[in-house]
Amino acid sequence: MEYWRRFGPGAKTGFSSLTALRAALEIGYTHFDTAEIYAGGHSEELLGKAVRESGIPRESLFITTKVSPEHLQYDQVLRSCENSLRRLGMDYVDLYLIHWPPRVGMKIDDAFRAMNQLVKDGKVRHLGVSNFKLKLLKEAQSLSETPILTNQVPYRLPDHSYVENGVLEYCQHNDILITAYSPVKFRNLPVNQAIRAIAEAHAATPFQIALAWLVAQPRVITIPMSLNPEHIRENFAAAEIELSGEEFRTLSGLYQA
Ligand SMILES: NC(=O)c1ccc[n+]([C@@H]2O[C@H](COP(=O)([O-])OP(=O)(O)OC[C@H]3O[C@@H](n4cnc5c(N)ncnc54)[C@H](OP(=O)(O)O)[C@@H]3O)[C@@H](O)[C@H]2O)c1
Repeated sequence: MEYWRRFGPGAKTGFSSLTALRAALEIGYTHFDTAEIYAGGHSEELLGKAVRESGIPRESLFITTKVSPEHLQYDQVLRSCENSLRRLGMDYVDLYLIHWPPRVGMKIDDAFRAMNQLVKDGKVRHLGVSNFKLKLLKEAQSLSETPILTNQVPYRLPDHSYVENGVLEYCQHNDILITAYSPVKFRNLPVNQAIRAIAEAHAATPFQIALAWLVAQPRVITIPMSLNPEHIRENFAAAEIELSGEEFRTLSGLYQA
């Protein structure tokens, strides 16, 4: 906990995670993404606390959490989910993801048997995966008794790896959401002239344009993280930005070889 306080998110900015969560709930965010591994479970505890304090009805929010790849045996998945629910102080999560593919040689059959059971027990509403390439994503689809809702992957203006490996197109054709993580995590965005020009045309920031570019794509949603209430507000407002076709194509081509 001490490590988290000194070096975790907010250590440099002075904004706390709880302040950020309160701001996000007040602004109107409804989707919150966490994981059993984040801050050793403390992230789930803080989210639960902020939600309870807000008085916002649980059913109007969408909560995602994730099981870590070292907990993918049947009993471990059930236990991880129970622990996440206890830390969140909730009866169910809307979406439960396998955070990363298992280590080489380990199967995901057991994990999906447990995850299917969690859906039947009403502890999880939807199932998904994260950082899954095509072969494993298709395997997950075949093992899940309910449709895979999402594959959460890195996707941002300078990172098209999940476009290049065919995952984005496959998801778009198979009714699976791509949840783009780390959508604004790169250094040069604010100084890129083309992005800056588009941002100015929309009276927006370059970060907002980076988000608008993602959610302009079919079946793509995104989960920016910020501890700064001003940034949290800007990221929320980015959903309203409509890029022209030409702007979209310019942004798409920026980092292509
Ligand atoms: N599934 C996975 O394996 C995986 C891996 C990584 C992340 N994720 C998920 O994705 C979420 C986001 O990813 P991330 O934290 O890696 O990257 P990110 O959201 O792209 O970037 C976060 C950084 O961007 C800054 N930022 C955010 N909005 C901004 C804005 N409008 N203007 C200026 N700066 C802004 C934040 O600083 P300030 O706090 O100062 O605003 C923070 O330093 C995580 O919270 C996590 O839930 C999932």
